Amino acid sequence: LSAAELNSRKSHTSLLLLDELDMDSVLITTPLIIAVLVSGMSQFLVGFNTGVMNSSSSVVFVGHSTFAWSVAVAAFCLGGPFGAIIAGSIVDKRGRRGALAINAYTFLIGGLIQTFAVNMVCITLGRLVIGFASGFSTVLVPIYLGELAPPTLRGTLGTLTQFCLVVGILVSDLLAFPFADEQRWRILFAVTPAASIVQILCFPFLIESPRWLLARDQKSLLARHFIKQLRGLRHDHEVETEVSHFISASNVQCCDKADKVLVNMMKDKNLRRLLLCALYLQMAQQLSGINAVFYYSSMFFEGLIDNPLVGTSIVGAVNCLATYVALLLMEKSNRRTLILWSAGGMLVSSVALVLCLLGYFNKMLSLCFVIGYVSFFEIGLGPIPWLIVAEMFEAKVSTNTPLSLIVSASCQLNWACNFIVGLCFPYLQEKLGAYSFVPFAAVLLITMVFVIVWLPETKGTTPEELRVEIVRSLSSMFALSDDSTNDDYASSGGNLDVEWR
Ligand code: GLC
Repeated sequence: LSAAELNSRKSHTSLLLLDELDMDSVLITTPLIIAVLVSGMSQFLVGFNTGVMNSSSSVVFVGHSTFAWSVAVAAFCLGGPFGAIIAGSIVDKRGRRGALAINAYTFLIGGLIQTFAVNMVCITLGRLVIGFASGFSTVLVPIYLGELAPPTLRGTLGTLTQFCLVVGILVSDLLAFPFADEQRWRILFAVTPAASIVQILCFPFLIESPRWLLARDQKSLLARHFIKQLRGLRHDHEVETEVSHFISASNVQCCDKADKVLVNMMKDKNLRRLLLCALYLQMAQQLSGINAVFYYSSMFFEGLIDNPLVGTSIVGAVNCLATYVALLLMEKSNRRTLILWSAGGMLVSSVALVLCLLGYFNKMLSLCFVIGYVSFFEIGLGPIPWLIVAEMFEAKVSTNTPLSLIVSASCQLNWACNFIVGLCFPYLQEKLGAYSFVPFAAVLLITMVFVIVWLPETKGTTPEELRVEIVRSLSSMFALSDDSTNDDYASSGGNLDVEWR
């Protein structure tokens, strides 16, 4: 890379940061609302399918073995990582809107296979396909909404996707009351194809991401048309100003060789630390055992409380409430503090749950401890691992590379750990009985130590600090000497002989 190129990237960075500051007058337009609703529907379906097996275990093809059921539950998370891998390239090749169409049709196919299933094999196959669509969605939706959202709304829209997901879980809990019986369980599964048909019907109103269009053709008239609609602009010169913002955002990338990015990041001390933190948090999110609750709480509550379905729905409702509280807290509190409280609270709740199951407290209290466990999850370990990746690496300047690569890699790890919990929890319960939450408590303890010792704070950087951080990160990816600082870089006047490491 020439020094001139680096300097130009640096000025794009400033342009973007300036752009961040004067976006107060941004309109929330109809195309943006439609995009949020349609892509939020995908996240809703991820949540719905996370929860739908919880209440249906005793009514779908009665008489199946524990093995057959846990394989069907876990098939969802086996499809997830594949969806996350494929999504990375499809969103670039077919566009965000095209990828969303593929996503909706995949949900439709998986949902139909389940609705008309003739045996447990069909249920498992359907979940595999839906899991694929869900993994796909967890990569696609943040990228699509991130590109459409005005900068001031990015954080809110990011947390909204988790909110759509938890609403999906709650709806699956509530629909279990009328439909989770031997005659009507197919109606429960029909929600997935029905929702994806609604999504497909909305496609004519859905706009493509202007950033993607401009990245392919800077003269694109379609991109200009969409920008006009998206930002509610009237005059051509306003549209051209926006176009230049979109183009500069597309141009600012940390590197050209995406396939070498992860290896190069591992060679750099600072980036390696960020990368490992991002990956560890995704792993900890799942190995904290949260989905043991969302996949199996009805089974777990059996014999502990009078009506397991009521218990599961209360947990689902509190989960939504806690995610709403997280929306408020996210703007005020540090990430480290929130994760520490989250892991600490979950640890205390899971230890209390174990003591309760051992008979130290009234068994009815198990519901309170599960509620505590889920609520603490949603204020930290739930949303933060998803948003911290962008916070650490995008730093509001880079676009597809390497962010989509890192998002996709961290999603794959998340889904793989989700699979392990989904598959193993019934066995943990069989083998460990009252101690089945002890492995999760151990992960939470390690996570607390990890946060205290390793995790850097990412929230609250001002645009100026952020710029220093970005340039420092960028320069450390190039062949500057290890102790080169931002000042060295700036004072060099662009005369540094920079090479890709
Ligand atoms: C997070 C997890 C997901 C879990 C959900 C529960 O999004 O990634 O696996 O089901 O939280 O709210």
